[in-house]
Amino acid sequence: MNEEIQTQFKTPFEQDVYQGLTEYPKYLSSKYFYDKKGDKLFQDIMNMPEYYLTDAEFDVLDHHKEEITSLFSSNGKEFNLIELGAGDGKKTKILLKYLSDNNLPFEYLPIDISQNALDQLEDSLRLELPKVQVRTQQGTYFEVLADIAKLNRTRKVILFLGSNIGNLLHPQAISFLTSVQELMHEGDLFFVGFDQKKNPQTILNAYNDQTGITAAFNKNVLARINKELNGNFSLDDFIHWEVYDPETGTAKSYLVSKKDQKVEIKDLSLTVNFREWETIHTEISQKYDDSTVTWLAEKSGLQIETQFTDSKNQYKNYIFKKG
Ligand code: AVJ
Repeated sequence: MNEEIQTQFKTPFEQDVYQGLTEYPKYLSSKYFYDKKGDKLFQDIMNMPEYYLTDAEFDVLDHHKEEITSLFSSNGKEFNLIELGAGDGKKTKILLKYLSDNNLPFEYLPIDISQNALDQLEDSLRLELPKVQVRTQQGTYFEVLADIAKLNRTRKVILFLGSNIGNLLHPQAISFLTSVQELMHEGDLFFVGFDQKKNPQTILNAYNDQTGITAAFNKNVLARINKELNGNFSLDDFIHWEVYDPETGTAKSYLVSKKDQKVEIKDLSLTVNFREWETIHTEISQKYDDSTVTWLAEKSGLQIETQFTDSKNQYKNYIFKKG
């Protein structure tokens, strides 16, 4: 059997794909959406009218930039601004510009899984905000957490925007928040964006656009398997399917096989069988309310310092300190 001969994996991607596609039910991690094409598709998503999250967080940062940056810089003391999952930095630039225009001393340390995203961010910052000192770092949040700990004792302000936390189930979110909390010292801040529960239709529409951008984004994990692991997924033989449970606040994405089919992944010496309508679960996008965030903070040893909301009450950013 495949499982017995396949023991050595060259990359985490190989191992995760193997594991997820030999389980029942099948799954793949949403962190693998993001290559050059996936980054572009996610930027297209952020520009869709249905994807309200980006505008909402932009609104929060723009309306409260003065108060937020004054909390960050705590009377002009130098700090490291560390961003987990920086992406194109479009929203962060509001804060960077305000800090830079007011000559508040800080260094910006964006971290992202995508080197491509980091390169673009660095180039754009050199043009748009040349005074800002930038040091990029490629990796997953979990990988870089250790590196953050090794940083000098300069005060840390850690950013985790875009409701990226929503990709984690609550137990994973607690262990992630706890790991960050354990690296924080007194005076350090943790600034996190949480998309809020709202009309379920609004949420469903954000992950189910009629133009098919989200579908292409979801299927990009299959495209990557084809390209990077010599797979032969036929993308048209899967549909993108989204569900939202208003009770738990969890939006879930699936790829559903339209027919009985076999897929070969040469580099894994693996044949994957799909029954008609069999699923691959690819992503969760968790939605929150105040009591859930308070509970997560408590479980993670964090304390809510303050919170900010957008004008339509769709989205919130919380500032945590070590509890
Ligand atoms: C980048 C994880 C915040 O879950 O809303 C957008 C990714 N997936 N459309 C989200 C995503 C489908 C997004 N995050």
